[in-house]
Amino acid sequence: MRDDLILQVKDLSVNFYTNQRCNMALRGVSFDLRKGRTLCIVGESGCGKSVTANAIMQLLPDLSRIESGNITFKGQDGDIQIEKLPKNGKQMRKLRGEVMAMIFQDPMTALNPVFTVGFQMNEMIQAHTDLRKKAATEKSIGLLTDMGVPLPEQRVHEYPHQFSGGMRQRAMIAMAMACAPEILIADEPTTALDVTIQAQIFELMLELKETEHMAILLITHDMGVVAEMADDVAVMYMGNMVESGTVQQILNSPSHPYTIALLQSIPVLGHGKNQNLEPIRGMTPDPYHRPPGCQFAPRCDFATDICASRLPDESVFDTNHMVRCFHYEEIKRNKEIQHGKK
Ligand SMILES: Nc1ncnc2c1ncn2[C@@H]1O[C@H](COP(=O)(O)OP(=O)(O)OP(=O)(O)O)[C@@H](O)[C@H]1O
Ligand SMILES: [Mg+2]
Repeated sequence: MRDDLILQVKDLSVNFYTNQRCNMALRGVSFDLRKGRTLCIVGESGCGKSVTANAIMQLLPDLSRIESGNITFKGQDGDIQIEKLPKNGKQMRKLRGEVMAMIFQDPMTALNPVFTVGFQMNEMIQAHTDLRKKAATEKSIGLLTDMGVPLPEQRVHEYPHQFSGGMRQRAMIAMAMACAPEILIADEPTTALDVTIQAQIFELMLELKETEHMAILLITHDMGVVAEMADDVAVMYMGNMVESGTVQQILNSPSHPYTIALLQSIPVLGHGKNQNLEPIRGMTPDPYHRPPGCQFAPRCDFATDICASRLPDESVFDTNHMVRCFHYEEIKRNKEIQHGKK
């Protein structure tokens, strides 16, 4: 299994410095990405999902900094420490696009408004392959067709503003897939799309995962998407991974109070109409005034004094099921007793 490792993130911390204030957006995030598997990162708005993705691609804005930690790409020719590469150096540009591609949360910021979609797709394809202009255009048209963009021969000559939001998103997904990258990072790729198109795009991603053995890092807050797409799941809260494991481990035996609360707040398919949904009480803390210790403690039913004293370490049980909580064993025991009573 170790051989399939393609990207390893270890203890990654990223700070943002704005108006002389510091936001510790990531505080020691670790995870592995494997070939032919999809890792879904879930968590509420502002928890650091996009920052994680942008750090891997070295696309963080200037006001932020990787404070510590490693991002290691496990290439065929050996390891590459991504965080050490110059952001816009040759090696990083080659990695972006050829080896790792990203579908952004907001397509309009990623497409250039003054060039046609076809021009931008061709540029990307020609930069990373030996194809000439004509062949590149044909490939662009083929990719737009795959993405279900109507009249692709005509659309390829249009500008981004002439595309609908969903079509722009699909054009960007086509660009990301153009060079069959080894790692695809997709930041909420289908939020702007209707469900049929979303299904088509997920189908295509699954196909690439199977045939090309692509590793996918999929960021989403939709648990339905997680259930459908994920092999592995990492749950984030306020800049930390609070729990991770296989999709079965996370959905069937969630062990962190936040994951448990998250799963209780959404309906589960197949559990009928009378599900007892409970919103998570309290609010996400202000990132500039973080609580000490475990970030979830102020909203947690299990919190005790120790939770406010320091951040809990990562505990691993049941083969790679990781949880960051002082009380996970007690919570697990309680759940087992409850299950026994039922
Ligand atoms: N350009 C920026 N300038 C200042 N702070 C930022 C910037 N981008 C992100 N942050 C901060 O970093 C933290 C994590 O943000 P991030 O965008 O990763 O959240 P997210 O999990 O992707 O949320 P969403 O689900 O809403 O996309 C937040 O506290 C946010 O305020
Ligand atoms: Mg985001």
